[in-house]
Amino acid sequence: PSLTQDSQKLLCAQHAASLVKPSTILGLGTGSTASLFLEQLSDLLSAGSLHSIVGVPTSLKTDALAKTLNIPLTDLGSHPVLDLSVDGADEVDQELNLVKGRGGSLLREKMVEGASREFVVIVDETKLVPRLGTTGPIPVEVIPFGWDYTIMKLKELFKGEIGFDAKLRTVWDAKEGKEVPFKTDNENYIVNLLFEKGISGDLRIISDEILRITGVIEHGIFIGMATSVIVAKKDGKIEILN
Ligand code: A5P
Repeated sequence: PSLTQDSQKLLCAQHAASLVKPSTILGLGTGSTASLFLEQLSDLLSAGSLHSIVGVPTSLKTDALAKTLNIPLTDLGSHPVLDLSVDGADEVDQELNLVKGRGGSLLREKMVEGASREFVVIVDETKLVPRLGTTGPIPVEVIPFGWDYTIMKLKELFKGEIGFDAKLRTVWDAKEGKEVPFKTDNENYIVNLLFEKGISGDLRIISDEILRITGVIEHGIFIGMATSVIVAKKDGKIEILN
């Protein structure tokens, strides 16, 4: 039997939902896998097999979805320490470092997941990589002011990297009839860092160097944050990495 990617996403989402205990203060992730987790959670709540949980959403989309699913919500100020966060990821390396934010929600995700005692990542096996940045870009959230200057600074930082590029993320605006900058929930822009063969070197040093550029707000490399990763495999098995 070979599961589709969607079935794999459902499988790890179900597994994660089964781990949630009553009265949990829960960080709610963003993306297609995290959305399946929210649906599972909602089913458990309406069936009465789970109760008294409260969630902190990591994006406006998740906030809206949680509301339609009747998942009670709170915020970080009211609950500065969360019990558990569950979220998908774009990439996971062997040390459980992640790339997140290809959906654009990296800043709120990093805040909420960083405030959680436990952070469980749910992925299908396509997300496992030997090196971060191999299957797609590493997103960086930047302030719109001087975004092209910030791109120059990012290019300077990675000038030794063969095949490196940094590009503003855009979306098609049907009304305007042209590509416009993608805007995050925080009204910022995203710059995509592209590495030909993935990012090399010490991730913590690279992270600090990116964050030291003044126009940069946050980046999508999540180092040492995941406490465990639930991987759903094509063969229908679940593997837990921690
Ligand atoms: C959102 O900004 C991302 O960090 C998502 O968590 C990530 O894109 C995973 O989404 P999928 O579950 O849809 O792959």
